[in-house]
Amino acid sequence: MKINSIKGMHDLIFGQTKNWTQIESLLHNFFDIHGYNEIRTPIVEKAELFNRVIGDETDIVNKEMYSWQDQGGDILALRPELTAPAVRSYIEHNMDKLNKVAKLYYIGPAFRRERPQKGRQRQFYQYGIEAIGSEHPEQDAEVISMAYNIFDMLGIEDLELVINSVGSQKTKEKYSTILKEYLSDYIGDLSDTSKQRYANNPLRILDSKNKQEQNIINNAPSILESLNDLEKKHFDQVQRFLDKLNIPYNIDNQLVRGLDYYTLTTFEIRTQSIGSQDALCGGGRYNNLVQQLGGHSVPAIGFAAGMERLIMALNLDRQVEDLKINVFVISAGDDAITNALKICDTLRNQLGIKVMMDFSRGSFKSQMRQANKLNAEYVIILGEEEIKRKVGVIKTMSSGEQFEAPLDTIHKHFDVEHSKDDQ
Ligand code: HAM
Repeated sequence: MKINSIKGMHDLIFGQTKNWTQIESLLHNFFDIHGYNEIRTPIVEKAELFNRVIGDETDIVNKEMYSWQDQGGDILALRPELTAPAVRSYIEHNMDKLNKVAKLYYIGPAFRRERPQKGRQRQFYQYGIEAIGSEHPEQDAEVISMAYNIFDMLGIEDLELVINSVGSQKTKEKYSTILKEYLSDYIGDLSDTSKQRYANNPLRILDSKNKQEQNIINNAPSILESLNDLEKKHFDQVQRFLDKLNIPYNIDNQLVRGLDYYTLTTFEIRTQSIGSQDALCGGGRYNNLVQQLGGHSVPAIGFAAGMERLIMALNLDRQVEDLKINVFVISAGDDAITNALKICDTLRNQLGIKVMMDFSRGSFKSQMRQANKLNAEYVIILGEEEIKRKVGVIKTMSSGEQFEAPLDTIHKHFDVEHSKDDQ
């Protein structure tokens, strides 16, 4: 019986991967010129890492995390995000000793058992950065502007950057009480999920997409009014720096985000062009996380973005890159095959051009069809007759022109052609 891939987890095949690797190499370069170093952490971690960091009451941990007990009795999980692993790694490798601020970036898969839909998978790729070590607003500005500039540089339109500040843990707690007091008049109108959140995690009610609830939430006291003077100053300075960097933004005092670790600045970048799952990226400060995981008290901020959503915003999700090769070698008979292998080798090694040959031992006609499918610029034809005379036929596919060349120097014709192209 046929076995298909798991729902919400997709193969990237053929030309698709080419688009991905191109974007990835652009990202590697972008992060590198900003002084960020790549880290690759394991896909599997102890589940406790995420329970502790993201929060037991969040959807990500509560409902969506793939976790299981392994043969040794440990409870393990497929990472639902990469911030917690990055911080775990930062502490484990004493990265605070290397630099005042550790600047890390990652590109890799994450897993959440969400209901799959357009822009939402169960395995998706995230790229992102974590700047661990600075509490200052200029660090917020760097991280937010980097997140924004990637999309802007790639020409994505309709970008909306939304920012907010949720204050320190203490402020969050103070505001939770204020919010609960306000919501207590509307408990009967809240959905079951929000009723549950009212008891466990009231801030998350602000995230509700429920229309009826939104009217209630819109009139709730703003979290920004609960910030103390230092927190207000931090948020004002972040805005001032973003203004200076010409990064446009809107303030949304309901942006609390779906992970519990945030303190002070939170932000999201959205675009209308990708449908209802419109968040291209999200991030914020998490000043307590390093300590919470057993490290020193070190402030940090970062963001992560979904690769699939970026690819979709660039309209590359349906576009499969055309195959194109320089030379296809057609051969018939053992001697011809031997020569074909040798010619392919020489052309690749000496000229670095893209060369393929037939491996199906098909007829000339079917080999020519392959060459056409692969958009070959040239074919080299090695028939039994040609091999006897120690020649091969070079055919230019666009014009149909063809001529014979001695086998031992046949590669030189391509050298001339390609050095002509370079001029
Ligand atoms: P997040 O908002 O959960 O934040 O995810 C970041 C981005 O990952 C989203 O904006 C979206 O583009 C993409 N994403 C999330 N879930 C899915 C999904 N099921 N399918 C496709 N794409 C998805 C975080 O993960 C935090 N770790 C961000 C962060 C880094 N905060 C501080 N540092």
